[in-house]
Amino acid sequence: MHRIVLFTALLLAACSGDSKPTNDTTKPAPSATAPQGQQPQNGPVEVTLSVDPNGMDVVDLNGLVKPDSPAGHRMELGKWLFFDPRLSKSGKTSCSTCHLPDMAWTDGKQLSTKDDGTVNKRHSPTLVNVGYCDKLYWDGRANSLEANVVAAWKGQMSADPLAVSSVLDKIPAYAEKFRAAFQTNANEENIGKALAAFVSRIKGEKSAYDRYLAGDQNALTQDQKAGNDLFMGKAGCAVCHIPPLFTDKSFHNTGIGMDKENPDLGRGAHVKDPKLNGYFKTPSLRDVAKTGPYFHDGSIATLEEAVKFMASGGRDNPTKSPQLLDRKLSDGEIKAIAAFLTALTSETKFTPPTLPN
Ligand code: HEC
Ligand code: HEC
Repeated sequence: MHRIVLFTALLLAACSGDSKPTNDTTKPAPSATAPQGQQPQNGPVEVTLSVDPNGMDVVDLNGLVKPDSPAGHRMELGKWLFFDPRLSKSGKTSCSTCHLPDMAWTDGKQLSTKDDGTVNKRHSPTLVNVGYCDKLYWDGRANSLEANVVAAWKGQMSADPLAVSSVLDKIPAYAEKFRAAFQTNANEENIGKALAAFVSRIKGEKSAYDRYLAGDQNALTQDQKAGNDLFMGKAGCAVCHIPPLFTDKSFHNTGIGMDKENPDLGRGAHVKDPKLNGYFKTPSLRDVAKTGPYFHDGSIATLEEAVKFMASGGRDNPTKSPQLLDRKLSDGEIKAIAAFLTALTSETKFTPPTLPN
């Protein structure tokens, strides 16, 4: 029950934008609770997980939505579209080229190559739990999942929505699915809606950690339990990586990339506020054992190195977030935290769809 209440609190707290620097290093940053105007009056309000921030039914990938409802058709359609290279200009790139289910929806590369042959300047992030966030991309420049997926479709895949729509309309199973889901033919808007419906259902859940929370004392090893205690306590990680999503959905500066000659300024460049230079979205650590290499520039190869970097307070630079401190942890403690993070890997299996011809 406790978990549901906490989850709900996070759901109520829409992505709150930019965090205000605070010197309190033990409590979540203010942005991590509810945004202004939505402060719960008597603590978290309990609601069911039936509605997500995008106003769509929340179901998991095992499909709790009725398959023959319009919502069910939208989700199924989005699943096809996500894996379909016919959505790209070359006919060779799909969303799943850079977001592979077996790698927790990342691609294992430092930087991925787009359909037009150019290389991204940021690392492909996981899509796990993005449905809970209304600011998307490392710098939060997209205000909705739908805006994000349409931008990703055009930008990463050089898509021409009109041309793709007419290709899909000529495939009988697609034409039928679009009618069942949207009562109309394929177009840019409903392709975006279907993709967002599918992506919003990509969840990181049912891990060893969740079994442990549910009372199974044997779900974590001794090392992982020690890592859990450090993560939530002395190491100060949960200040920003707040369970159960292991993100505050906000932005911070860890100093990653800030030592480069022309650093990527992230959130600061997007909102044109130099105080936020070097701020990037806190990634969810759900499934993190599968999402390396790490950070917005993919510059750190292993989970243990990433933990060490964070626990030593990041890299100094003029706008570094004040919650990041050198926690003076031993190598054994770093290893224990890394071991704990491997307990956040989902145990659900995803089966990619067979595409219609
Ligand atoms: C060529 C690789 C590539 C392809 C193809 C691609 N993406 Fe991405 N995706 C990225 C990169 C890189 C980012 C991060 C960009 C940034 O933050 O500036 C990203 C970010 C995202 C995000 C934001 C995640 C977050 O936590 O904010 C979503 C959602 C997403 N992509 C969905 C999709 C969908 C849906 C498709 C297909 C229409 C797609 N992507 C195709 C590389 C790709
Ligand atoms: C001030 C907030 C904050 C604190 C405290 C914090 N993190 Fe992070 N963490 C972030 C942000 C922001 C990023 C992404 C930075 C970037 O890519 O530029 C990140 C990235 C990471 C990553 C890489 C994830 C990925 O998918 O690339 C790991 C692993 C991580 N943190 C673990 C930890 C651990 C372990 C601790 C405690 C020792 C910790 N963090 C403390 C904000 C924080």
